[in-house]
Amino acid sequence: MGFARTCSVALVGVEGVVVEVQADLEPGVAAFTLVGLPDKSLSESRDRVRAAVVNSGGEWPQKKLTVGLSPASVPKAGSGFDLAVACAVLGACERIDPRVLADIVMIGELGLDGRVRPVRGILPAVLAAADAGYEQVVVPECAAAEASLVPGVSVLGVRSLRQLIAVLADEPVPDEEPEAQGRPDPLLAGLRVPGTGAATGMNSMGAAQPDHGHDLADVVGQISARTAVEVAAAGGHHLFLEGPPGAGKTMLAERLPAILPLLTREESLEVTAVHSVAGLLPPGKPLIDVAPYCAPHHSATMQALVGGGAGIARPGAVSLSHRGVLFLDFSNRPSGVRVTRLGPSCGHPVPVNRLPPFLSARRREHAGRHGWRGAGWYSTT
Ligand SMILES: Nc1ncnc2c1ncn2[C@@H]1O[C@H](COP(=O)(O)OP(=O)(O)OP(=O)(O)O)[C@@H](O)[C@H]1O
Ligand SMILES: [Mg+2]
Repeated sequence: MGFARTCSVALVGVEGVVVEVQADLEPGVAAFTLVGLPDKSLSESRDRVRAAVVNSGGEWPQKKLTVGLSPASVPKAGSGFDLAVACAVLGACERIDPRVLADIVMIGELGLDGRVRPVRGILPAVLAAADAGYEQVVVPECAAAEASLVPGVSVLGVRSLRQLIAVLADEPVPDEEPEAQGRPDPLLAGLRVPGTGAATGMNSMGAAQPDHGHDLADVVGQISARTAVEVAAAGGHHLFLEGPPGAGKTMLAERLPAILPLLTREESLEVTAVHSVAGLLPPGKPLIDVAPYCAPHHSATMQALVGGGAGIARPGAVSLSHRGVLFLDFSNRPSGVRVTRLGPSCGHPVPVNRLPPFLSARRREHAGRHGWRGAGWYSTT
């Protein structure tokens, strides 16, 4: 018989809810039950955790094991609970002192070999843990920099479950091979959010970071358009640009982030949290302190624009451009996409509203005959 508990965090949108992970061992036929509204990927953590514990030199208890995730009413998704489940089980079978585990929040996926893998949304998870009063957080080593952005929390980055067991049991910490330098984690590398105009890559200028090579000084002439860009930047206004092809509308829009002020610390954490949930943070530079820029392709679907997804939400272009610039170039947008649904009536907390409906092909033709040439962009505040 044994009982241990530790904590992890469930993500609801881009906000975290601290979840208590409890493990209970009873005499009986060996079994492993996971309760507390887990989704499919979390249910599979039973097999990952068992393999990781055994491959980390631990002994799997041959008893009736129940792991509960509390509060049971909050749906839990993803593999980020693996580390907490493994440690709760090891605490219940007294491989680790259960008293050490109670006040620690653990976030990370386990590989079958016991390696600790990164998950999306580390920053909002650690923010939630700090808000709930927790002061110690364990995360995958490659996400330690991201977790350390949260003030008042001491962060332990681990490469493997073996290392974490050694730290918690006060034993010498074994050395583990680090991830290859400069290579982003295969889980997150090359991840694209289709249609949002955002993607991670090998370079440090990931999706979240606007290209500061763009300078408003490159724009020749266009005095009134430049003034409009400056006024929009100063006041956080929406802006509509109209002009013939090649007039420089896209060029002006791309240069807006460069004249926006740096984000405050609070805004940076907000924006970084959204990009963290999207899995778009560039490796090695987790904090986004400049206004993001998002230019979704004109054929982007509604889901790519407003986000969605089952389990852990996948932010769309609107959320990814939070506190920055969302550039909607709709001169070629098919009339079938109803962007008017972005308005408040759909109940989605989008920072952009009052977007004009796109013109139907017939009205576009009519407008074209009367001088309408469409391309527009909006800044979000
Ligand atoms: N005022 C300008 N100063 C300097 N270069 C300019 C200017 N206007 C246009 N250009 C050049 O023309 C190119 C095309 O401009 P841009 O793509 O911004 O036009 P656009 O108005 O967005 O066209 P479209 O309606 O086809 O999207 C720019 O990349 C830039 O090299
Ligand atoms: Mg253009």
